[in-house]
Amino acid sequence: MVQLDGYSFDLERFMSREDFDRIKEFSSDKQTPFLVLDLEKVEERYDALTAAFPFSRVYYAIKANPHDEVLKLLAERGSCFDFASPYELDQIMGLGVTPDRLSYGNTIKKAKDIAYAYSRGVRLFATDSEHDLRKISENAPESKVLFRLLTDGSGADWPLSRKFGAHQDVIISLIELASKLNVEPYGVSFHVGSQQRDIGQWDNAIAACRYVFDWAKEIGINLKMINMGGGFPANYLDPNTDFEVYRSEITRYLDDDFGDDLPEIIIEPGRSLTGDAGILVSEVVLISKKAEYNQYVWVYLDTGKFGGLIETLDEAIKYPIFVDKEGEAIEAIIAGPTCDSMDILYENFKYTVPDTMEEGDRMYIFTTGAYTTSYCSINFNGFPPLKAFILPQRTENEKKKEVYQTGNLFE
Ligand SMILES: Cc1ncc(COP(=O)(O)O)c(C=O)c1O
Repeated sequence: MVQLDGYSFDLERFMSREDFDRIKEFSSDKQTPFLVLDLEKVEERYDALTAAFPFSRVYYAIKANPHDEVLKLLAERGSCFDFASPYELDQIMGLGVTPDRLSYGNTIKKAKDIAYAYSRGVRLFATDSEHDLRKISENAPESKVLFRLLTDGSGADWPLSRKFGAHQDVIISLIELASKLNVEPYGVSFHVGSQQRDIGQWDNAIAACRYVFDWAKEIGINLKMINMGGGFPANYLDPNTDFEVYRSEITRYLDDDFGDDLPEIIIEPGRSLTGDAGILVSEVVLISKKAEYNQYVWVYLDTGKFGGLIETLDEAIKYPIFVDKEGEAIEAIIAGPTCDSMDILYENFKYTVPDTMEEGDRMYIFTTGAYTTSYCSINFNGFPPLKAFILPQRTENEKKKEVYQTGNLFE
């Protein structure tokens, strides 16, 4: 087998060695696979996002990570929430969040689910079709409605294109129809695609909002809100443009198109708030070779596509994967444990692992705090759903000690 250089992984890009050791220590007596969630990271990301867009209100997309502790933390910090079903609605209201802080963002809804949300006090809905709009008007009278524009999702690692939103011509006729029904046409929404790397996509979408606002004004409808959705990045293997560039560019687009006439702005982050907060701890079940002279090995883990890593479909999301061992680097195809041949995480993009790695070793899969516990199967091949543990919070003294040790007094 051709050997590459020594195995290396840029741990510091994702967390300090000290933080990693704390997570490793916390994980050591637990049976894999499981997720460790660091709520300090969620808090940090929330604070950074609200500081970046001080003119906006955050509606956290519950689907990204619906762990009660995540929701409680965000609720305490003042976040509002975007829910997608009556089940998420019950969960978030069960935690004491009032309906004036909720938005029913799913454009695909049963009439009875709209009526239920209305009965619980929800008054903000999104739509992209005539039938859904009529259902809202009949079952949630006098509610505010946001109209979702179609975006093509290009530039995003996990695009949401085609399924949601409608072209401007449809949106315009829906707004006109809404003004004749029993609802308030309140604004426009869009989602540029999740893990969006092309910041210019916000420019296109905001320009489309301006067009719709102007058109609505011409027929006497004064729209008041833009919902800019999610799309802000988490820290995966492919590096991102600095978040500061997202902040300054998106703010500039809004300024160019709306200037002093800025409507109410809401954002619906999911991935960018919780992605970086999770580490999925997994164990190597089997290492094998399919042919004597292959330059790579197959590494089978005890988690895979059905264990919460479905976003590896088409290798769309490339999670950083770390083995805490030294050795020469060898290329690996990484696969899951189930009896489904699509349960391969990465085959085209070759990860490297140390040649000292053995069955029973742990693989740490970083940036797995979003779209993992909520996506995993509940019983495929009998494997249970992905467990999540909350990392015990550091005391204020421990945090201060770290600040002094790293010499960064401004953190
Ligand atoms: C309506 C809506 N809002 C927000 C989000 C969250 O997007 P992201 O995880 O890219 O922040 C999603 C994701 O699917 C969504 O469907």
